[in-house]
Amino acid sequence: MDFKIAKERFEELLIKLRALEYASATIYWDSATGAPKKGAGERAKTLGVLSGEVHNVMTCDDMVQCLKLLDENKDKLDKITYATLNKIKREYDQMAKIPKDEFAQYSELRSLAGQVWEDAKEKSDFTLFEPYLEKIFKYQRKFVEYRGYDGNPYNVLLDDYEPGMNVDILDDFFNSLREKIVPLVKRIKESGKKIRTDFTNRSFNVEKQKEFSKYLLDILGFDFEAGMFKESVHPFTLNLNPYDVRLTSHFTKNILLSGIYGTIHECGHALYEQDIDKDLVGSSVATGVSMGIHESQSRAYENVIGRNINFCGFIYPKLKELFTDKLQDVTLKEFYEGVNEVKPSLIRIEADELTYSLHIMVRYEIEKKLINKEIEVKDLPEIWNKKMNEYLGVSPDNDADGVLQDVHWSDGLIGYFPSYALGNAYASQFVNAMKKDINFNNALKEGNFKAIKDWLTEKIHKYGSTKMPNDILKDVTGEGLNPKCFIEYLKDKYEKIYNLK
Ligand code: CO
Repeated sequence: MDFKIAKERFEELLIKLRALEYASATIYWDSATGAPKKGAGERAKTLGVLSGEVHNVMTCDDMVQCLKLLDENKDKLDKITYATLNKIKREYDQMAKIPKDEFAQYSELRSLAGQVWEDAKEKSDFTLFEPYLEKIFKYQRKFVEYRGYDGNPYNVLLDDYEPGMNVDILDDFFNSLREKIVPLVKRIKESGKKIRTDFTNRSFNVEKQKEFSKYLLDILGFDFEAGMFKESVHPFTLNLNPYDVRLTSHFTKNILLSGIYGTIHECGHALYEQDIDKDLVGSSVATGVSMGIHESQSRAYENVIGRNINFCGFIYPKLKELFTDKLQDVTLKEFYEGVNEVKPSLIRIEADELTYSLHIMVRYEIEKKLINKEIEVKDLPEIWNKKMNEYLGVSPDNDADGVLQDVHWSDGLIGYFPSYALGNAYASQFVNAMKKDINFNNALKEGNFKAIKDWLTEKIHKYGSTKMPNDILKDVTGEGLNPKCFIEYLKDKYEKIYNLK
C-alpha cells in the first residue's frame, strides 16, 4: 500500500465506522426514549453485533497499515485528515495494545459488573460489588501497563477522556479547591441564612413543564430542524452529526428545577454539537473534542448562564405566566436564591453548583490511589465516608447513598469523573473571557442569547475535534486550567447570596 491508496482506504474504513456508530447510536436513542421493553433482548444482540464490527474495522490489517503510513506522512495531510488520524490513533491504542482475549474477558466482566452493581445498590451492600470492582481495577492497572505511561499510571486513564490531562495539573486544581471551597461551604453552613425553596416542590403540571423547556431551548438557540427533544429517565444528549443532535430531559411533578436545569444543561451540550463547522460534516472530527470541554458548555449554560440573576429575571415572567397559581407568592429574588441554594448532600447528581466539584474530588482521590495501589477496594466504604465528612460535612449511613451511588466504575469508566469538575472550571474561564468581548450581563438581561451562542461558536464550537482541549483553553483565555478563576467566580457569587461579606 502506498500513501495515496492508504489515504483512500483510511477514508473508506472511517465511512464504515461512522455508519456502524450511527446505527448503534440510533438504536440507543430508540431504547432510551420509548422503544418497547420486550424488544430489549433483540436490541442488545443487535448492538453486540455492531460493536463487534466496530472492533473488527478498528483493528483490521488495513487499518493498522493506514495508520502507520499516514503517520509517516503526517506533513502531507490536510488539517481535517491530520486531526482525524490523531483521534483514530488514540482509539486504536486504547483497543489494540491490549491482548484480544483479555479485552473480551474485560468486556464480559463489565457487563456482569453492571448487573451486580444494580443489585448491590438496591440492597445497599458494597460487599456484593467488591470482588467485581476489585477485578475492574486490576484489569485497568494491567491495561495501563500494556499501553505504557509517563509519570503516574493514572495519567493514561485521565488522558482517555481529557487529552493532555495529568495528575500534576489535577492535584494542583483539587488542592486549590480543598483549600478555598471547603471553608466557604463551612461558612455558608454557619451563616444561618435560610433560603426559601418550598415553592420548588409544589405540584407543577408536567405538560406545562415540557412547554417551558421547549421555550428555553428556543430562546437559547437550539435548532429544532437539526435536532429533536424527547423525555427519558436520565437527561442526555446524543449527537449523530451537526445536522442531527438529539436531547432529552426528565420531568417530575413536584421537582420543578430538575426539569428546567436538566434541559438547559443538555442544551449546552447540544448547541456545541450543532454549531460545529459544517465543513467538518462527513468526517470523524465533526464532534466535541473531549468530555471536559463538552461539560464546560453544558455547565456554562446550566450554571454560569442559567443560574445568573439576569437570566432568571428574563425567564421568570414566562414561568410565572405558565404557573400563575403556583408562583404568585414567590418574588424573583426568592426564585434566584432558590435555584442557587447551597446544600451539602450525599448524592453527586443532586449537588449544587458550589459543592459539586467536591463530590468529584472524593472520586478523583480514590481512583488515583487505587490505580497506584495505595489503598484497597475493600476499604472503600470507610474511605468514602471519611472524605465526604471532611469535605462536605455529611456522611452516608449506607453504601447506596455512598460509594455505590454512581454507575461509572461498574462500567469501567475510570478517569472519567474529573472531566465534570474540569467542565465547571473551564466554564468559568470561558465566560470570563467572553465578558471582555461582549456585555454578558446585558445580553442575559435582554435575552440576547444569540450573542453568547455566536461567541461560543466562534471560539470553541466550530472547531469540533480539530483542536485539542488545552489549545482551545489557551487560545480563548490566554492560559491553561486556572483554579483561581473558578474559585473567584464561586466566592463572588455565593458570598453575595449568603451575605458573607
Ligand atoms: Co453533561
